[in-house]
Amino acid sequence: MRTLIKNIGLLVGIVPEGVLKKAGKEMAETGTLENAWLLIEDGVIAAFGEMSYRDRRSSVSPEDVGDPLAGARDDRTEVIDAEGGMVMPAFCDSHTHIVYAGSREGEFLDKINGLSYEEIAARGGGILNSADLLHRTSEDELYAQSMARVREMVAHGTLAMEIKSGYGLNPEDELKMLRVIDRIKRTAWQAVPVKREAGSNVAEASSCCGAPTVRSTFLGAHAVGRGYTHEEYVRAVIEMTPEAARYADFIDVFCDEGFFTPEDTDRILKAGAAAGLRPKIHANELAVSGGVEVGVRNNALSVDHLERTTEAQIEALRGSETMPVMLPGSSFFLGIPFGNARGFIDAGLPLALASDYNPGSSPSGDMRFVMALACIRQRLTPIEAFNAVTFNAAAAMGISDSEGSITPGKRAHLILTHPGWNLTRLAYQYRTPWIREVIA
Ligand code: NIG
Ligand code: FE
Repeated sequence: MRTLIKNIGLLVGIVPEGVLKKAGKEMAETGTLENAWLLIEDGVIAAFGEMSYRDRRSSVSPEDVGDPLAGARDDRTEVIDAEGGMVMPAFCDSHTHIVYAGSREGEFLDKINGLSYEEIAARGGGILNSADLLHRTSEDELYAQSMARVREMVAHGTLAMEIKSGYGLNPEDELKMLRVIDRIKRTAWQAVPVKREAGSNVAEASSCCGAPTVRSTFLGAHAVGRGYTHEEYVRAVIEMTPEAARYADFIDVFCDEGFFTPEDTDRILKAGAAAGLRPKIHANELAVSGGVEVGVRNNALSVDHLERTTEAQIEALRGSETMPVMLPGSSFFLGIPFGNARGFIDAGLPLALASDYNPGSSPSGDMRFVMALACIRQRLTPIEAFNAVTFNAAAAMGISDSEGSITPGKRAHLILTHPGWNLTRLAYQYRTPWIREVIA
């Protein structure tokens, strides 16, 4: 199966093969091509190039020697005319909590009336409130509600997502969440809209057309489950880990004030490592927690949140393999500081951005808005923010060898925009409809 996208006004996100992340000044750059074409073969980016002068005016004779487009011009090739639209890699969202039951709309008023995230949690609301509701919700219903969020994210241009457990908080319900994430992994293709052609079997068409990439994270240590003392619960999480590892790709701990200490985190991450799970952890959202350091020591793939950091955390990350991930959507929603993204990049570090889509601190999975917030509130340039929501975001979930950029051989997970868009306009005019088609 071949698809040719022609008349692309701007192709952005071109990265040479073999590069796996961008750091510091490299984040200010991305490969672009104006007036381009891109060829997809069996779901993979096969080639791209510039439209020739003649291409742009009319159709070209396929015999053109040395024309990479020539072989693609046959009846079996689907041709999409981009009509001057921009084509970019789809967003990768490396940090979400989209498997949850219901919502926390009830706490929204408490928040408006001035209660902080910590105060709501201390009153038995927050994560425990979501855990109670999840406990009462059937696995099928939880799956249905979560798939609606996958569809929403795909519609906003996200085609790779990490999903965490963490609203179970006991062995039974944590496993229920991990099974739901696993089911999403296997059925995520159903969230990609297909163009219906008369007589075609839609289900078959979509399963052959590709699916969002899903990664699963065991976040048993999200809060102390009801009925446990703190120490009992840390032990319970350690005991759950081998079973959780049957489904999960990564392990996470909410290492923060009032939740889990760096010592708890270290014990849990060691149990995760023994079960083959690499850490991706929550650190420094509510306080400078020691989470960055314990994450780096345990070779975390990423340390996430980082609303509060000092020079010490920047130093800890320097030279490490750990990707810092910031979540401006939760800063925006909770009214807490935005992470020092500018300082991180200026210090030569890589940076990824994610939505943190969850019912308590970031009820949105719109990565374009994340990109806009990073520009408007964290002073990233549009290209830096773009690299942070695509290529480096793929690195933060361990998939930058196969997606997150326009590179031959990578999965064709793409966004095609309406005519005239570019990365600056995307962040600047942040509420104007822009997506023409999400291509998986
Ligand atoms: O990343 N901080 C911890 N976990 C989530 C919030 C979860 C919730 O409030 O439901 C976060 O912000
Ligand atoms: Fe989170």
